[in-house]
Amino acid sequence: MREASTEPSAQAARPFRSAVVPAAGLGTRFLPTTKTVPKELLPVVDTPGIELVAAEAAEAGAEQLLIVTSPGKDAIAAHFADSSELEKELQARGKEKLIAKVRRAHELITVRTVTQDEPKGLGHAVGCARDAIGDDEEAFAVLLPDDLVLPTGVLAKMAKVREQHGGSVLCAFDVPREQISAYGVFEVTDTADDDVKRVHGMVEKPAPDEAPSTYAAAGRYLLDRTIFDALDRITPGAGGELQLTDAVALLISEGHPVHVVVHRGGRHDLGNPGGYARAFVDFALEDPDYGPDLRAWLAARLNG
Ligand code: UTP
Repeated sequence: MREASTEPSAQAARPFRSAVVPAAGLGTRFLPTTKTVPKELLPVVDTPGIELVAAEAAEAGAEQLLIVTSPGKDAIAAHFADSSELEKELQARGKEKLIAKVRRAHELITVRTVTQDEPKGLGHAVGCARDAIGDDEEAFAVLLPDDLVLPTGVLAKMAKVREQHGGSVLCAFDVPREQISAYGVFEVTDTADDDVKRVHGMVEKPAPDEAPSTYAAAGRYLLDRTIFDALDRITPGAGGELQLTDAVALLISEGHPVHVVVHRGGRHDLGNPGGYARAFVDFALEDPDYGPDLRAWLAARLNG
């Protein structure tokens, strides 16, 4: 599941410069850990989920990562900051391999943080990044740090779809109908490409027999900057939160083209302990140091 992307690199085309990573939520599903530790920093084997997502954004050609954080989640920015003191210490101890690991987050991509003072929803979080995105940037990416989309490369495909159809492009997974009520589901029509659908609407967590399709939303977006104007015009929904999907729905109702790329790969939801445990085990099984032992232990555990 973790092989490198086979998609052509987007570096040359650079379809967007900024990638927004909203990380200012409360992470209530991970309490009590998230009293003090941002869920975005929880390790998948040894690397925080948000670093994996930063690497994906860099690979897709993003120049800057705009992390939306909240007061009290400073550790996220610290993770991407210069770590020369620690590196010196590791150097003195001859730990070359660890130096490379420690340096990676800082060297991957330019990181800026913007603050969301209160967790007023994903739409509001994305709106907080507005001033950090250049006036000349027609589109930008949004990557949810608790969603691993594997193998990486879907953003490059999404950029091609925007080139072809304009507007905004989202990412979807084809989910078995009996599981569909756990997701936001797209109402779509086909295009000439089987993996690209035109979106006409979205339904949150429908009953299986009422779901308009089996295409569920994943945490990758390539948004036209008109989304900011739409975010200004929507009203808060459930829990007083501004929903990004409401802003997308408003744009659709006004004729703005929205498509989804159906990603035929894997996905891990790091946002809840069950999904996180799967991701950890999946990545650990592939790890040369920990994989063989874990595999043997799991087999014995499951047979025991
Ligand atoms: P989630 O709903 O998965 O995260 O939002 P959460 O709200 O932190 O988690 P729970 O539901 O309480 O357990 C998806 C992403 O959007 C960010 C979150 O940090 C997460 O990465 N987010 C959400 C914000 O940045 N601001 C918000 O107001 C809400």
